[in-house]
Amino acid sequence: MNPKCDIALIGLAVMGQNLVLNMSDHGYRVAVYNRTVSKVDQFLNSSAKGKNNICGTYSIEELVNSLTSPRKIVLMVKAGEVVDNFINLLLPHLDEGDLIIDGGNSLFSDTTRRVEELASQGILFIGTGVSGGEEGARNGPSIMPGGNSEAWPLVKEIFQAISAKVDDGTPCCDWVGDGGSGHYVKMVHNGIEYGDLQMISEAYDLLYSGLKLNHDEMYTIFDEWNRGELDSYLIEITRDIMGYKEEDGKPLLTKILDRAGQKGSGKWTGINSLELGVPVTLISEAVYARSLSSLKEERLEASKILAGVERVVDGNREEIIEDLRQALYASKIVSYAQGYMLLREAAQEYNWHLNYGSIAQMWREGCIIRSVFLEKIKEAYEANSGLKNLLLDDFFASALKESQGGWRRTVGRAVAAGIPMPAISAALAFYDGYRSATLPANLIQAQRDYFGAHTYERTDRPAGQFFHTNWTGEGGDVASTTYEV
Ligand code: 6PG
Repeated sequence: MNPKCDIALIGLAVMGQNLVLNMSDHGYRVAVYNRTVSKVDQFLNSSAKGKNNICGTYSIEELVNSLTSPRKIVLMVKAGEVVDNFINLLLPHLDEGDLIIDGGNSLFSDTTRRVEELASQGILFIGTGVSGGEEGARNGPSIMPGGNSEAWPLVKEIFQAISAKVDDGTPCCDWVGDGGSGHYVKMVHNGIEYGDLQMISEAYDLLYSGLKLNHDEMYTIFDEWNRGELDSYLIEITRDIMGYKEEDGKPLLTKILDRAGQKGSGKWTGINSLELGVPVTLISEAVYARSLSSLKEERLEASKILAGVERVVDGNREEIIEDLRQALYASKIVSYAQGYMLLREAAQEYNWHLNYGSIAQMWREGCIIRSVFLEKIKEAYEANSGLKNLLLDDFFASALKESQGGWRRTVGRAVAAGIPMPAISAALAFYDGYRSATLPANLIQAQRDYFGAHTYERTDRPAGQFFHTNWTGEGGDVASTTYEV
């Protein structure tokens, strides 16, 4: 009889297969199963061929019976109902103390529910973010596990072994916290990914349609940017995309339809930020920018009707490019600051004890947003774990001071040339709002009180006292109730 397996994985799509191979490389014995069982043999006869620590199974029962106790079963299946369906299929075969791990991009609130429901049946549950795409899964992803904390010791060694590592060998995987916190952190990661992609695309737009640079020139710019403060996976792949030409010698990028897809995690971040009242403006703009891009036919029509200006950016090319680099860097700082504001509020709202430095460490390598920049975020939180806002950290405050000139000039140029920069300009608007001791919200309060007797607080009276004025002398003196959502 074959020895029992250390862990099982259900769902042999590309991420699942690569995670299995990664675990196998690290010496773990892995049982695999797929709903379309023919995929099991396909896998065993292709990339898993010759790996005798990968064991094919052909039913849920066989899979469960092939495992050592307590059993550890990873689901790499489509988020949503499919996860619940597999949990239900597994449950009759599991014993108390067994562990189910959902490694898909599940909505955090589903994970919170699953942790609770399964705990009441004696089954442990982890919802984990896994980032890094196909290559990451194979060679070392960033792994963000959260859920039932009793489960962490059961998989800590395996997860940390297969995860990406930073230079000093620290794994990009640590326990995030209770309930759906692991998937929440992955959701914010994806939101930040949306923001990064959008900002880089805006920079490309200015270089390409504003400065009329060709793809080889843009390759060189992204290559240079990747050697400095912007050093990151996404700048690196953007450089490579600029350099990718088809057989006819033309850049493939020019032939790709400008309609961005989305699977939902950016939207979830935006929705959650509205629910928690956190101004995560850059990510939300990035989601809306994808929605706007998808209105291709309407945009084509509008382009013939609506007036604009010629998309030309004039001036010293080197200066414009350096300003743009600064704009990208400053906006990126704002985007991550907003992401961390959301994490802080979520920790409060959902009662999680998040370690912000450790989250930066988990994102430092392996994942899609990996960058040198995350090291600075880690350092900021290590120096002050109670840091109210990343923008207030000395390093980031002075980085913004140094780059704000180029940032402002870039937004000005883009506006003048009719080049949309929703993310970069939203970041600047946020920065200017956040650093303002006074905002025109006094007028909003006056207007609300004028038309709806919604009351206002006064600067010459203690906060928390509410006043109503009969602005026209005609309305009543009765104030509406004060409540805040
Ligand atoms: C990752 C990615 C991964 C995926 C996104 C894409 O961390 O490996 O974030 O999860 O690329 O889900 O999302 P969209 O299809 O919505 O862009």
